[in-house]
Parts: sequence; C-alpha cells; structure tokens
Amino acid sequence: MSNNTVFSGIQPTGELHLGNYFGAVSNWVRIQNSKLYQPIYCVVDLHAMTMPYDPHTLRQNTENMFIDLLAAGLDPEQSIVFVQSMAPEHTELAWVLGCVCAYGDLTRQTQFKDKSEQLEGKQDAFISAGLFTYPVLQAADILLYRAGLVPVGKDQEQHLELSRDIARRFNTQFGEYFPEPAVLSTETPKLLSLADPTRKMSKSLGPKHYVGLFEDEKSVRAKVRSAVTDTGEAGTEIGAGALNLIGLLRACGKLDIAQAFEREYANGPRRYAPLKEAVAEALVELTGAMRQRREVIAADRERVKRLMREGAEKARAIARATMKDVRRMTGLPKHEA
Ligand code: TYM
Repeated sequence: MSNNTVFSGIQPTGELHLGNYFGAVSNWVRIQNSKLYQPIYCVVDLHAMTMPYDPHTLRQNTENMFIDLLAAGLDPEQSIVFVQSMAPEHTELAWVLGCVCAYGDLTRQTQFKDKSEQLEGKQDAFISAGLFTYPVLQAADILLYRAGLVPVGKDQEQHLELSRDIARRFNTQFGEYFPEPAVLSTETPKLLSLADPTRKMSKSLGPKHYVGLFEDEKSVRAKVRSAVTDTGEAGTEIGAGALNLIGLLRACGKLDIAQAFEREYANGPRRYAPLKEAVAEALVELTGAMRQRREVIAADRERVKRLMREGAEKARAIARATMKDVRRMTGLPKHEA
C-alpha cells in the first residue's frame, strides 16, 4: 500500500532542545517543505502524564511546545499541527490496540525499564500503569492516521517496532487495515549530551547536558566551551564527545568546516578550542534566528489558541473516519463522538 502520511509527536516536557531538533523536528520541517507528504505533528500531552507532573506546568508546557514547533518551522497551512488530548480518538484507539498488544512485548520496552528505574530511586516512588502502556498510546497516535512514515530519533525505534507488531496483529485478527509504519531518521539520530557523551542529550539529565533551541548566546557559548571531549593526544582515538561536536557542525549545515576538522584530526594532535568556537558560532546563528521567530509567534496568544483548535479539528476529521472503520471491524456498535 503506498502511503504518504507522516506522523510524529513530541512530549511537552519543557523546551525544545538540539537533540529533538536535529534528531526529529528538523526532518518534520524538511518533510513538510518537500510537499511530497501529508504531515501530521502532535504535541503529546497525554504521554507527559506518565511521569510525575504538575497540572499547571503541563498546560503551559503544552502551549509553549506548540509555539516552539511553529518557531522551528512548522507551518499550520502545510502540516496538521495539534495537541494530542484535543483529539480524544487517540485514547479510544489506544484501548482497542491494547487488546491486540502482547503484555510480554510491553515488559521488554527499554524506555519503560529506564524510566521506572529513574523513579524507583526517588522517595515515594510511584510507577504508573500509564508509563507501562505508554507504547500502546504511541501506536494509536500513529495508526489513527494510518501513517506509513514516522520521523523520530534512535531512542524511539523500539516503540516503532512495537507499533508495527500491533498493526500486524490487528490486521491478522480483523482484516488488513493499518500500514506498518517505518522509521525515518536524520543524520543525527542520537545527539549526545555535551557534559556526558556516554548518554543521549536530554532535558532530564539537567541544564548543562543540553542546549535549548531558543537559548541565549552567552549560555550557548558557555555550554559548548565546557563540552567534554578527550585529551586530543596524537595517536589516540577520537572520543564520542568530539565526534558529537563535529556532528553538530554537520547538522548545522557547516559541512566544509566539519570536513576540515576531520582532516586536521586524522593526523597529529587534536586541538579542540577552535572546534568548540566553530560549533558555538554555528549554534548561535541557529538559535538567534529561532529566538526571533519564537518571539513574534508567542506575542499573539489568541492566534496560537486558534491554531490549536483548528489543528485539532483537522486531525479529528481523519481520526473519526478511522475510528468508524475500527468500531465496525472490531464488533463495537456504530457511534460517532
Ligand atoms: P520525545 O518527546 O522524548 O522526543 C521527541 C523527538 O526527539 C527525538 N530525540 C532525539 N533525537 C536525537 N538525539 C537526541 N538526543 C534526542 N532526544 C530526543 C526523539 O527520538 C523523538 O523523535 N514517545 C515519543 C513521543 C511520541 C511519538 C508518538 C513519536 C508519542 N507518540 C508517535 C512518534 C510517533 C517521545 O517521548 O519523544
């Protein structure tokens, strides 16, 4: 089945950072601008409820992430951009899919293991069933739009594999209906933390580990300057931190500069100050432009709210049609919300 619908989502757990951007969102924009697909992008607020959170902050973060995505280049005229909980069909389909998802498959999800271990260390640790069934909701997000392609970073590959298993089991049980969604990667599917290049860049590690897409110049420069590299001694292997910085240069489109450093580092000692300077320069250029766009968009909250409503309506037009089919196929009575 040929399918040009693209779906992806992002959790509203704070600001957009370079990992999200270069691992996924830059691809969302590229896909949109190619005009070859029907792109659908979602701020997945229901997913953000699976870890301890504050209701007021969630609502604010959701709106802020919606604004971040527009500032990063999503155009509501070309892509459907919306908030997950404003399309209740997501949770409805999640229930149905939960009934064709093997319990054992959920127990093998590494992200559940990582996140529950993270919680176990804390006082009053509470691990919700929502955190466990999270990948089923993710499968529902994608399958609701019968999307064939899902642009995500490397950390989401296992969830995508499960989405395919779920689609397959549904199709076997009720008839061929859902396409099996494939991952679409960027050239930076796993951007590493600046402070600890053994781990991926993520907000949960703390501020010195990531660079925000809208961060100010001073702080971008300071973070890049203190990025962990290696001794640079001639004859030693180049470390993950330094490779990560070169990867950032490439991701920023500075291919010539990246190549020049690679050539220089191939023979002889490696001096990292000039590399850091070049990376900081490229990032300051990027974040400066993003920050300006964000300010303009954020100044008109009424427009933002209207765009959120319109995005949800467009998404629901597709979602309702899918649920109508799913209800018929799975033996539920006809009912339209
Ligand atoms: P989330 O919110 O953690 O991350 C959003 C996107 O950013 C990518 N990403 C990275 N890529 C490269 N390097 C990094 N350091 C890095 N950090 C994050 C993620 O891979 C992701 O693509 N479960 C998803 C959200 C989701 C979803 C969906 C995605 C819910 N439903 C349906 C696709 C389709 C998540 O938590 O992403």
